[in-house]
Amino acid sequence: MQNKNYYITTPIYYPSAKPHMGHAYSSIIADFFARFKRMQGYNVFYLTGTDEHGQKIERAAKENGKEPLAFCDEISQTFKDLTQTLNLSNNDFIRTTEERHKKSAKNIWNILEKKGEIYLSKYSGWYSVSDEAFYTDDEIEEVNGLKQCKISGSKVEWVEEESYFFKLSKWEKTLIKFYEDNPHFILPISRKNEVVSFVKGGLKDLSVSRKSFKWGIPVPTNNQHVMYVWLDALTNYLSALNYPNEKDELYKNFWPADLHVIGKDILRFHAVYWPAFLLAADIKPPKRVYGHGWILSGDQKMSKSKGNILDPIEIINTYGLDPLRYYLIKEVSFGNDGNISEEKLENCINSDLANNYGNLCQRVTSFCEKNMNSEISKDVNFVDEDLNLFSNYTDNFTKIVEYVDKQDINSYINFIVDQLFAANKYFNDQEPWKKKGDKKRLNTIVYTSLELIRKVTILLYPIIPNTAQKTMKIFNIEFEKNNLETIKNNTFINSGKINKIPILFKKIEKND
Ligand code: ME8
Ligand code: MG
Repeated sequence: MQNKNYYITTPIYYPSAKPHMGHAYSSIIADFFARFKRMQGYNVFYLTGTDEHGQKIERAAKENGKEPLAFCDEISQTFKDLTQTLNLSNNDFIRTTEERHKKSAKNIWNILEKKGEIYLSKYSGWYSVSDEAFYTDDEIEEVNGLKQCKISGSKVEWVEEESYFFKLSKWEKTLIKFYEDNPHFILPISRKNEVVSFVKGGLKDLSVSRKSFKWGIPVPTNNQHVMYVWLDALTNYLSALNYPNEKDELYKNFWPADLHVIGKDILRFHAVYWPAFLLAADIKPPKRVYGHGWILSGDQKMSKSKGNILDPIEIINTYGLDPLRYYLIKEVSFGNDGNISEEKLENCINSDLANNYGNLCQRVTSFCEKNMNSEISKDVNFVDEDLNLFSNYTDNFTKIVEYVDKQDINSYINFIVDQLFAANKYFNDQEPWKKKGDKKRLNTIVYTSLELIRKVTILLYPIIPNTAQKTMKIFNIEFEKNNLETIKNNTFINSGKINKIPILFKKIEKND
């Protein structure tokens, strides 16, 4: 039997400051996949949450004059609120300060320690609190007398303390074999190559505990230490499935995860450390990790420390949620860095959403209202011109699903844009306003156009769910599971009457 479960996650974000566009981006992308797979009939578990331990959070709380947990409660809530604002369909929201998570993280630790994968020694080296990462000498440079990480640009400090180590070096060959056996474990391929050469360059054992501060999960066998925040955080993907209870339905159905959606900044943690921890603990590694690019502000990465943050809530208040979702999914080439500017967003709203999609829905429904009293008749006779458009969906059905399963979001949305052009062109070329004398042809053109609207709206649903639901009111159709298959058949009509719908997207007036 085919496995019809699908587990997708976002990173769990640091609640060191309120969320920005970069966080919104990862979550919207994951929501796209979750909604598509549900529409395809999958039982989907979509997880997001916040990563609340470690020095970064401890310091941020202190700067704000708060106790760490009180600080996390407050900021984590803003991430939770954002899941509503973005209309995310997540099934759970996990916080690493919850008991269920601490229990699961401690369990992993105990397994690794019992299996002899962890030993006590001393760490001395560079540490970036901002990245919560250890760096080697060759990953460090000096800028204006200050040491920083070459890649992230984050400040590093020298750390020397007793620490537990995970025997990462031991897993080097197994990891390389694992990447070979699972050629699509890391995507996009360009990033995979970086990771593989990093591993082939040689892995050192990884420090997995800290002694000089307290804000973390205590090491179960030594309360002088707290667990390294990344070992703690990565385990969240298991905790949410009620691990360590391996008999639990969630765990049985959803582990291993199908897709971890992350940004390229944290690829090493997800594609090297995470599978190594899991292999060492005798737990199956996830099936895929996709490291997407940056949302840039100007030509720089948007980040709290750079102070160049775009607030998703401001954009949504001005332009609406679905335009933002559409923009991020269409205009950012998935896998690469992308820019967001108000001008580009406005162009996208005007050309794609208002002119191409909104206008199609309006003109077809108003034509039907004015000339056919909103009645659609089944007295039709399809000819090649009509059937060819339908077959775009039937013939390409497998391809559409493959795009999504390969995370080729851009091909998916380009297919939609092509279909919208084709549908608009069809309605123009057929000139139904000249066919009022030929009742059967008129019925057929209107039926075909409405059917094209229904099909394309289903494909748009994972991108712009609110709008797609509004459009489906034309036909009195509610979205439900298995909707995707219905684009293969050409008979949507239940009742003879269609409903009027409001203007879906307003054009933005431009001065130039
Ligand atoms: O790294 N463009 O949390 P974090 C695109 N807690 N995506 C961006 C982005 C940008 N400018 N800025 C952030 C952490 N992101 C850890 C994760 S997971 C077990 C622990 C997104 O708050 C992107 O997904 O720094 C990136 O990987 C993530 O937010 C980092 O969020
Ligand atoms: Mg970060």
